[in-house]
Amino acid sequence: MRVLGIETSCDETGIAVYDAQQGLLAHSLYSQTATHAAFGGVVPELASRDHVRKAVPLIEEVLQKAGLAAEQIEGVAYTKGPGLVGALLVGAMLGRTLGFAWGVPTVGVHHLEGHLLAPFLEHDAPAFPFIALLVSGGHTELVKVAGLGRYQIIGDTLDDAAGEAFDKTAKLLELGYPGGAALAKLAEKGNPERFHFPRPMVNRQGLDFSFSGLKTFALNTVHEHGLDAQTKADIARAFQDAIVETLVIKCRRAFQKTGWRRLVIAGGVGANTALRQALTEMSQQEGVSLYFPRLEFCTDNGAMIAYTGCQRLLGGEREGLSVEVYPRWPLSEVKPIL
Ligand code: KG4
Ligand code: ZN
Repeated sequence: MRVLGIETSCDETGIAVYDAQQGLLAHSLYSQTATHAAFGGVVPELASRDHVRKAVPLIEEVLQKAGLAAEQIEGVAYTKGPGLVGALLVGAMLGRTLGFAWGVPTVGVHHLEGHLLAPFLEHDAPAFPFIALLVSGGHTELVKVAGLGRYQIIGDTLDDAAGEAFDKTAKLLELGYPGGAALAKLAEKGNPERFHFPRPMVNRQGLDFSFSGLKTFALNTVHEHGLDAQTKADIARAFQDAIVETLVIKCRRAFQKTGWRRLVIAGGVGANTALRQALTEMSQQEGVSLYFPRLEFCTDNGAMIAYTGCQRLLGGEREGLSVEVYPRWPLSEVKPIL
């Protein structure tokens, strides 16, 4: 089965074609970052309008890259939630319309399931079961993945997501929005000895996270030491070290609790080099296998939606005639794939 995937849940229009036999055939991404940067965050109405503008030209581009005519598409998958309602509606309307016009089935996909399954786009794909660390702009979760569509959340954030904490601290350091990657780059120049940020929740039992305190800690440090170039870099370094070490401690604890031996990293913060290095070291020490999607499939993309949609369509799932989106949709409510 050959499936067109459409991702429009937030500020990236991602389009891809995935073939069950041949794998990923083509993908393209348009990031709206420049549109929203001036506002210091995503403006939902502008996001929807940009998806309207970009989605169809990107589909044409992806079909051309794959050397396919529209008639050769056998199914359409789109992100059904969670996300911004207007942005989701653009992808859902387009997906359902194309499915109707082309006479092929459609399926709505959970955005976070897409992130969880992104490592299956790689040659060295994990086997089930595995633990997934899902770290994105909106989510920080440890998930037991027993099989396709079989997810149990064993750790969650009580407040800010890891990516959100990166973005808020980056804003404080005047690095623009979304500043996660810029903060990571600046941290490379930082002195790790100058400031020490707390490792939230590590002394408490369990696998939950809390990151909002780190941003306050960063704010207090700025008030005390100012914002000269070296201080900025030192704060970035201390902040990143705190997030990375906290995530590593909780992943290690998840292995010890479950006895499972595989770890998958998913979501935008999974693109962070320091996190990747620290998790690689921890996995070697614990003797567990570690899987990352390539960098461009850590952040939002159409390929993960095309892949996940393909599995669901092969399992017989179909959307009805009505167009529905779920802006809030817990991952635990996703149904197993047959
Ligand atoms: O998964 P994603 O693309 O979108 C959501 O579904 O949220 O994640 C975006 C998040 C943003 O908060 C961004 O700042 C963060 O991932 N991010 C990073 C890096 N690259 C992206 N955070 C830290 N280091 C990076 N290199
Ligand atoms: Zn995402």
